[in-house]
Amino acid sequence: MNEATLILIKPDGLKKSLTGNILTRLSETKLEIVAAKIVRVSRELAETHYAHLRDKAFFPDLIKYIQGELHNRRKVMALVYWGEDAISKCRQLAGATNPEEAESTSIRGAYGRITTSGLYENVVHVSANQGDAKREIKLWFKPSEIIVDLYPTKEVLKDNVKVKVWA
Ligand code: TYD
Repeated sequence: MNEATLILIKPDGLKKSLTGNILTRLSETKLEIVAAKIVRVSRELAETHYAHLRDKAFFPDLIKYIQGELHNRRKVMALVYWGEDAISKCRQLAGATNPEEAESTSIRGAYGRITTSGLYENVVHVSANQGDAKREIKLWFKPSEIIVDLYPTKEVLKDNVKVKVWA
């Protein structure tokens, strides 16, 4: 079944010049890129994206990490991949959340690390399931930034101009 997934190349991936490498690995999936941009991650975006981990001891470090404060690279690359079994194909290539447990040929196994404070710096984010993908894609992208219609939208007036927003 065709589905979409959010992919983030996190600040460690950008700092280590892994963007091309990661995109090449992901192209093995033959999925289609339907949205892409560089994002400066606000605290609000970071905290909303990782809201399910709010109670974890590593949460403050995780927020600093995704905002680029640990790598002096205040940006991430956000993409939407679309196609047959997109989520499982991309998660397979990404590898396990813990880089030590990830298969050594996976992106996280090859390039991830665990910091001395115990945070997993695992280079990429891939949505875990269709529900998360929908929530995350709607959080990171406006409808007009995606070249296919993934989720319902509605038109609203903004400064007297009609714009599409998520319904
Ligand atoms: P999570 O959403 O559980 O995993 P995934 O990114 O594979 O969907 O966790 C989000 C991020 O939080 C994860 O990519 C790295 C970090 N993290 C840790 O640093 N330590 C942990 O024990 C866990 C579970 C996550």
